This record gives sequence, C-alpha cells and structure tokens, in this order.
Amino acid sequence: LFVNVSENPPRKIPNTMFGISFEEINHSGAGGLWAELVSNRGFEAGGQNTPSNISPWSILGDESLIFVSTDRSSCFDRNRIAPRMEVLCNTDGGNMCPAAGVGVYNPGFWGMNIEQGKTYKVTFYVRSLQPIEMSVSLIGSNALQKLATADIIDENVTNWTKKEILLQAAGTDPNSRLQLTTRKKGTIWVDQVSAMPLSTHKGHGFRQDLFNMLADLKPGFIRFPGGSFVEGEWLVNAFRWKETVGAWEERPGHFGDVWQYWTDDGLGYFEYLQLAEDLGALPVWVFNNGISHNDQVDSSVILPFVQDILDAIEFARGDPTSTWGSVRAAMGHAEPFDLRYVAVGNQDCGNKNYRGNYMKFYTAIKGAYPDIKIISNCDGSTRQLDHPADLYDFHVYTNANSMFSMAHNFDHNSRSGPKAFVSEYAVTGNDAGRGSLLKALAEAAFLLGLEINSDVVEMASNAPLFVNANDWRFNPDAIVFDSSKVYGTPSYWMQHFFKESNGAILLNSKLQANSSSSLIASAISWKNPDSNRSYLRIKVVNFGSNRVSLKVSVDGLDKNSIEVAGSTITTLMSSNAMAENSFSEPKKVAPTTSQLENASNRMNVVLAPYSLTSIDLLR
Ligand code: AHR
Repeated sequence: LFVNVSENPPRKIPNTMFGISFEEINHSGAGGLWAELVSNRGFEAGGQNTPSNISPWSILGDESLIFVSTDRSSCFDRNRIAPRMEVLCNTDGGNMCPAAGVGVYNPGFWGMNIEQGKTYKVTFYVRSLQPIEMSVSLIGSNALQKLATADIIDENVTNWTKKEILLQAAGTDPNSRLQLTTRKKGTIWVDQVSAMPLSTHKGHGFRQDLFNMLADLKPGFIRFPGGSFVEGEWLVNAFRWKETVGAWEERPGHFGDVWQYWTDDGLGYFEYLQLAEDLGALPVWVFNNGISHNDQVDSSVILPFVQDILDAIEFARGDPTSTWGSVRAAMGHAEPFDLRYVAVGNQDCGNKNYRGNYMKFYTAIKGAYPDIKIISNCDGSTRQLDHPADLYDFHVYTNANSMFSMAHNFDHNSRSGPKAFVSEYAVTGNDAGRGSLLKALAEAAFLLGLEINSDVVEMASNAPLFVNANDWRFNPDAIVFDSSKVYGTPSYWMQHFFKESNGAILLNSKLQANSSSSLIASAISWKNPDSNRSYLRIKVVNFGSNRVSLKVSVDGLDKNSIEVAGSTITTLMSSNAMAENSFSEPKKVAPTTSQLENASNRMNVVLAPYSLTSIDLLR
C-alpha cells in the first residue's frame, strides 16, 4: 500500500460525511431512545372511537370488583378517549377490595426498567365525582413486590386534575409495571399517564445508555424520522410534525402502519431537533411530500402540504416571535435549531406525482430559505437528475459480496452536479445474520470507497440504527437493546473506525494487488481536538479468508517524526466471519487496540482473515 501525505491541494472530507439515520422502526424511539416508560399513555392506541382497546393496559381485579370501559370524556380535545373505572368493591363491607386494590396497570414496552435509588416522575390526570383514595406504584415482576409507591388520599378531583408524583425505587427490576389502584368504591377516570426516569440525557427525555451509543459515534448528522415511517402505508398514518409538538398531553399520537405499532409521539419533531443538537450533529429532516406507499396527493393540490413544511422550517429556525418559532420557544428553546438539510420524501422517486410535488416544495423552500440543502429521492449516480437538487438520496441493501464490490460504485461518476447522500446502506439476507462480522466488513469496504469518493458523496448512514429485541421488524440493525441492556453489532463497531473521518484530510493511497484482491484501503490525516495531536490513519479491510502481509509505504512522512509510543493498531476481527454479538456476549466482536511497535513510514502489517484494521501513526 502506497500512501502519499503531501498531496496538494489537500482534499477535506465533508464534516457531515458519516452520520446516523434514525427511524421510528423496531420500537427504536417509542420503547427505545425515548425514555417514556408507559406504552399508550393516552389510551388512544385502540382508536378514537368507543369502545376502544386500551392495550397494553390491563385491569387488576375481576368483574365483581371493577368494571373498566372507555368513553370520550378526556379533557384533551385531540385525544378524547379515557378509561372509566367503576369500582364495585370497597374498603370494608360485603364486597371488600383485595389488599392490593383494583385498577389498571401498564407493563410499558416489554417491561419497565426500574432501578434502585433512581427517581421516576409519574404524571397523570384524574377525575371522580367522589373524593379519591388511590395508590400509584411501581411493581416488580418478582412476586409483584412494590418497588415504590405513593398514596393520594381523600382528594377532591371533580374536575380533571393533574397529579405529579416522584417515586424513588427501593429495588431493581427490568420487567416492572406501573399500577394505579384503589380500594374505594366509586367511579374514576384517568388519562395521559406518564412515567419518566429523571435520569434522561440532560433531562431531555433520551435514554442515557442509548444516547451514549450514538454520541460515541460522533455523528456528523442525524437523519430522522425515517425511512418508510415518514411515508406511511397510507397518508393518514404518516408522520405529521404539527401533531408531535407542544405539550405531550395534547399530542394525539399515531399508528405507524408501515412498522405496525402505535407511538404516543413523545419523541416528536422538537425532540428530534433537540437530539441532533445534543449529539452535536446536523439535523436532516425527511418530510412527507404527499406520497405514501398506497396513496398520493396530486401536485395540483399539494400547496397546503408545502405550507405545512414551510411552517416546520419556521418552527426549527424562525425568530422566537414568529408564528411557529414562538411555539418552539414556548417549548424551552428560544434559539433556532441548526436545520440546514431537508429531504423531500423517502424512496418516492418512482411515484407519478413525485417530480411535480418535489418542484413545488423545492421552489417554496429555496425561495424562503436559499441556504437549505434539498435532497431529492431520485438517484443521480448513474444519470443526471431532471430537476434541481443539492443532494440525491441513495439507498443500498444487498449481500456481502456485492456490498464489498460497491466500494467502487462512485469511482467513475460525474464529478459535477448534486452530491450523493447515501442515507441507507446495509448488508442484508443470509450474510447478515442478526449482525455478522461479514456484514460489517463488507459495509466497511463500501465506506472506504465512499471516503475516497467524498468529493461526490457528502453524507452516509447505516440503516436501521436501533432494534428493540422484542420487536425485530427489520433485520439486521446496528444497535440492539431491551428495557435495560444494549449492545452494538459488529456493524456498529465498524462505524467507530470512521468517526475521525468527518472533516479529516483524505490522502492519496494506492493498493498494489492483483485484480481479485480481497483488500480495500483508504488513508486520512486527522487531528485529535483534545490533545491537538495529528495522526495519519490507514484503514484496510481484508475480506478474504487468508492472512495478508501488507507492506505499507508512506511518502512525504519523515520516519523520525512518528512517535511509536503513541501509534496504535486497532482491529475488528474474529475466527468466524459470521460471528455476532449478543446480550450475553456484547463485545465478542469489538475493536481491540494495541501499540504499533513497528510504526514507521515503511512497515509490514499483518492483516487477519476477515478483518478491519486501522493504523494510527502519531506525528
Ligand atoms: O431501513 C429500513 C427501511 O428500508 C426504511 O424504512 C426504508 O427507507 C427502506 O426500504
């Protein structure tokens, strides 16, 4: 491998080159990154009509003790359904309530993770014609022990009343539930029940362990909220940003019909923008352009949709006194968010109304916000787009061999025109397992090709990002979690090798190998902002089953300027190319780093079969 460090002029890799694509899929937001513990907190998931199914809420007590129905008496206009609990038993007398009480409980998303010593804020709304005596409890799965409880005694709640309670857990159980119970005869309505750990990232509602997994990748951007989730099977079920902002109690929630689950939309448009800011990543908002998988709005009547998107941009960027900027400010963020990229739809180019709709969005957005970069769904990699765009979206899901070959996909493309946003790439099928090393290596080779072609590719992200192991709708994914645990697949760890590439200088590198070579390499020079030290990084994928002894020769770098003590070699490998991580072996395939003893401008490096290697020479 020949590397030249004195290329002139130096070519900077875009700051946004490697990022993440967050989709509400596999319960990655609801029941995932969004730390809300209650599932279906507004009781609306069964629909707006009565009787409505309140699942996964369950009733505690048989029909001789309590009768629960639903009516439309909630105090929230956009979500009227509330459960009505008719309590038939009493504290004493013939029909005495059981000691545990009767009521309703919510198991969260396959169990709530309650941890000893941590505090949980429970909020709910309640109404009753009689004074109430209720208990609010966090209950563990082990013999239904109480982990925390608080009583509300003799309170007058004839009008809907908001209750906020802090519960500190006396024990730990990742499979707990929240219970609202009583032992007093009467009728009680409850609604908008929330349980949030206080320990979310900056108090912004993001589950800290999952947030950390993202922050550790140092993403240059975050694309949200999909994916197909943006489109919906039907337009009526698409993500509508206006329904996801403002007070959480007032958000109607919606059924994401592509991935077939309800979300309360606690993780709404504002929270996505906040997430981007907290990650130090630029937000890339993918909006619905009037096209779903099964229906579409004609371009002649698309203007209200266009106005809706202009409103969204004003919400993100507008002055706090503007109509929508003031809504953002009222939510606690007076400063505008740094929204610079929007994508017009997801995978919609083939639809008959796409170009017509796209042009209406494009013209209106560019007119009002000329600096915003607009991403088209049409592939501009093989032919020139027939419409204006700053970037074009490029998705690839394929097997490992073809992903490996796709490292050269952009080598011969036109160097002018809109740049590529590779917003979804992944190896799928048998090669991928549930996240194999083989998958990660083929994807690494693809990314090395993108890095080399970063003059025509501006952004890239793996997809999907997250999966809740209880709802594996789309396989494979980068990060796997349940209520209390998380691990990265080899693909996740592979992305760590690229986190210094954003804003780095691409170096000229040339592999001298035969045409059937299983190697792909790239070289960059980057600076560690903490130590202010510069590194030369060489990354190589060995996609073959043989060990390779690689001769590395770096021109333009004085041997004596290399600090051997600070130079390292990092590898991602396993004796089995199909090896995967799991909850029991979360780091079976993860990078290992050691000092590079023979660091020099001329050196031999041994590449293990099926491996990704990164060599960092400290200068
Ligand atoms: O990443 C999973 C899905 O794959 C996305 O929702 C969609 O854009 C693609 O088809």
